[in-house]
Amino acid sequence: MRKPLVAGNWKMNGSIDSIKTLLAGIKAGLDSVSNADLAVCAPAIYIPLVQAELDGSGIGWGAQDVSIHASGAYTGEIASSMLQDYGCQYVIVGHSERRTYHKESDELVADKVEVARKAGLTPIFCIGETLEQREGGITEQVCARQIDALINKYGVEALADGVIAYEPVWAIGTGKTASPEQAQEVHAFIRGRVAAKSSEIGDKLRILYGGSMKPGNAAELMAKPDIDGGLIGGAALKAEDFLGICQAG
Ligand code: 13P
Repeated sequence: MRKPLVAGNWKMNGSIDSIKTLLAGIKAGLDSVSNADLAVCAPAIYIPLVQAELDGSGIGWGAQDVSIHASGAYTGEIASSMLQDYGCQYVIVGHSERRTYHKESDELVADKVEVARKAGLTPIFCIGETLEQREGGITEQVCARQIDALINKYGVEALADGVIAYEPVWAIGTGKTASPEQAQEVHAFIRGRVAAKSSEIGDKLRILYGGSMKPGNAAELMAKPDIDGGLIGGAALKAEDFLGICQAG
């Protein structure tokens, strides 16, 4: 049985004060969550603060991106070893906002997943189609291409104990959620694609849904057999909403 994972993606939001308030609120309500692993992925500069606030709490933390390089002349980049220095367990990789605004290719994303995994971090590997692609009937083709970029280069072992986040781009920050049936269909496809290479890795793979997940829709999404949690944007910025989603796990 896969334990759900609910991870907050704070994106470029927060301040010292707001983060302290948010984490205090989440910690205060933690007893109400019985069946989910929790994590928050913060802007890099706040990771030391998050570590100080969450150490020993049982809540995990991580970053929103990582460099493929170990060190050197890569201005602005952050290496996986640096994330580990601050206790990160997770790193979001290949979020659609990075694919779009930073032109991250399937191949670069695959390299980042592998670098993070080799360093001992758990990459939250994001995939998903745009509205145009969904309307064009190529959702599965797009997800397959994104997954295959990783598997063909590094083998299915790159997803051992792994986490994929299926985030339909049209559902991100729009208030439009994929219906539980729509999401389940793609999640089952993703698991099938991985399981075709290794049924064991496919079975254990946690596939999170992301895109306007809220306390009001989390339970019906997570009730689906292949939806193993969520990657939460806007609703992760309010303790009550984040906890409400975690309780649905
Ligand atoms: P929203 O929950 O704000 O739609 O964002 C989802 C997301 O992009 C998480 O990575």
